Amino acid sequence: MYALSFASVALLASSAAAKKCTNITVPVDISARTGVFDITVPKTNLEATTFIQNFTQQGRNFTNLALTGYKTTAGTYNISTQFCVPSENGVKNPTVQVLTHGIGFDRTYWDIPYNGFNYSYIDVAVDTYKYNTLSYDRLGIGQSSHGEPLNEIQAFLEIAALASLTTKLRQGTFPGINHAFPKVTHVGHSFGSAQTYALVNLYPTISDGIVLTGFSMNASFVGYFAAGADFVLASRNQPFRFGTVPYATGDAILASLASIFKVSTAVEEQLSEAYGLTDYFAGLETRQRVEYCDGYLANKDVDTTQYLFLLPGHFDPGILYAGERTKQPVTVGELLTLGSAPMVNAFKGPVLVLTGSNDLPYCGGDCLATGDPTLPSIPAAVRKNFPNVPAADFEAYIQPQTGHGLNFHYNATGAYRVAQEFLRVKGL
Ligand SMILES: *[C@@H]1O[C@H](CO)[C@@H](O)[C@H](O)[C@H]1NC(C)=O
Ligand SMILES: *[C@@H]1O[C@H](CO)[C@@H](O)[C@H](O)[C@H]1NC(C)=O
Ligand SMILES: *[C@@H]1O[C@H](CO)[C@@H](O)[C@H](O)[C@H]1NC(C)=O
Ligand SMILES: *[C@@H]1O[C@H](CO)[C@@H](O)[C@H](O)[C@H]1NC(C)=O
Ligand SMILES: *[C@@H]1O[C@H](CO)[C@@H](O)[C@H](O)[C@H]1NC(C)=O
Ligand SMILES: *[C@@H]1O[C@H](CO)[C@@H](O)[C@H](O)[C@H]1NC(C)=O
Ligand SMILES: *[C@@H]1O[C@H](CO)[C@@H](O)[C@H](O)[C@H]1NC(C)=O
Repeated sequence: MYALSFASVALLASSAAAKKCTNITVPVDISARTGVFDITVPKTNLEATTFIQNFTQQGRNFTNLALTGYKTTAGTYNISTQFCVPSENGVKNPTVQVLTHGIGFDRTYWDIPYNGFNYSYIDVAVDTYKYNTLSYDRLGIGQSSHGEPLNEIQAFLEIAALASLTTKLRQGTFPGINHAFPKVTHVGHSFGSAQTYALVNLYPTISDGIVLTGFSMNASFVGYFAAGADFVLASRNQPFRFGTVPYATGDAILASLASIFKVSTAVEEQLSEAYGLTDYFAGLETRQRVEYCDGYLANKDVDTTQYLFLLPGHFDPGILYAGERTKQPVTVGELLTLGSAPMVNAFKGPVLVLTGSNDLPYCGGDCLATGDPTLPSIPAAVRKNFPNVPAADFEAYIQPQTGHGLNFHYNATGAYRVAQEFLRVKGL
């Protein structure tokens, strides 16, 4: 384990500056080899369950069973991004970090506003460490272009979009930024880490260094995630945010509940437990609707969000509800392609794997239970997937008292500092 230098953090943190961010929608012309799957796209919650039963059945690879061949998918898509620089000195640092979120989130994963942005990755990277950041909604999600959820919105098309954003940053052709960055690093969370991993294998010189958070290469526990999410159609789960139900319908129902709903986290907790109302009314207040078609699935409720992302006792209950109201879905095509990363990675640059001690999908709830006295943690095994990375440039760090959703835990910023220190020490 490399030694953390918190003395340097204290020095860097002394200024009270804030980040300066702009939202930029970027068209990307991309193409990728995508799988052609021949299965029913779920159009009801029961069909979503059928898909997960198919997907999680032991002893077979459902991706391979459903696959009938490959095709080239090409097109122009809009990617919704946010570019942030330190407010006091603009673009001075030669490095921009490209941040790719995981399943269940959009780019706000990296900058959650809860409690005065006290959980913001971008605040740590930009305010404290003076990096520039580019976060973005992955293709298919949030404000980025959506698409057909089985045979279009899949991992490799999204990776093509990530490669295109990176090239624009390096070449100085990113609209609204118009600055050529000599150094680009990539930071992912979960599926965003898997895409970052695949990106640097396809294009080994595209990145100067990578940080894979909420990640390992152990696929044994993917089924816990798929089953534990209790996936349902996004448009039915949050009908005002993701579906087409008129706001007036929600207003009328809410008017009769207004005196009791959302007066406190405790009341919301009771209503959510009994009726799933946190999800039902999400988006009604903000009037922010992003429609998703059938085949976009969301985890069902706060119970499943806790199971997938949070370690009990180590998060503020309020952030669970805030996260639920702003969650995002996943496509069936993404689920079918999330395990398609190669076992041997061609990348040669610095790699940090940073995973919560109690991560569910990548560690089965305990990253230290390896059953192998020579292997300190499950994420430490990622070392063997990077044969071209010198030993001194690989680190696996286990963030204590933390589940899969690092950003939701009390010590989120502690984890983020580990990432910044790793990159800083590597001169990136
Ligand atoms: C920019 O995007 C963020 C979410 O990432 C959003 O909260 C904010 O309101 C947007 N700003 C503008 C000016 O649209
Ligand atoms: C489940 O798998 C069967 C084949 O085993 C397939 O015909 C069916 O379309 C699948 N349904 C879903 C919703 O995945
Ligand atoms: C499952 O099948 C897909 C498609 O053939 C393949 O890319 C993937 O590597 C397989 N996964 C495992 C764990 O064998
Ligand atoms: C991208 O956004 C622009 C501006 O909103 C819009 O005119 C264009 O149709 C969008 N393109 C795609 C592929 O969605
Ligand atoms: C954010 O965290 C700091 C340090 O832990 C604390 O002093 C401050 O009160 C917090 N802000 C909010 C809005 O919770
Ligand atoms: C995944 O982790 C479990 C628990 O430590 C271990 O038993 C299993 O061998 C690991 N699988 C691989 C492929 O390393
Ligand atoms: C917070 O995280 C940092 C980085 O992992 C760690 O050094 C520190 O001990 C953690 N703090 C607590 C209170 O767990």
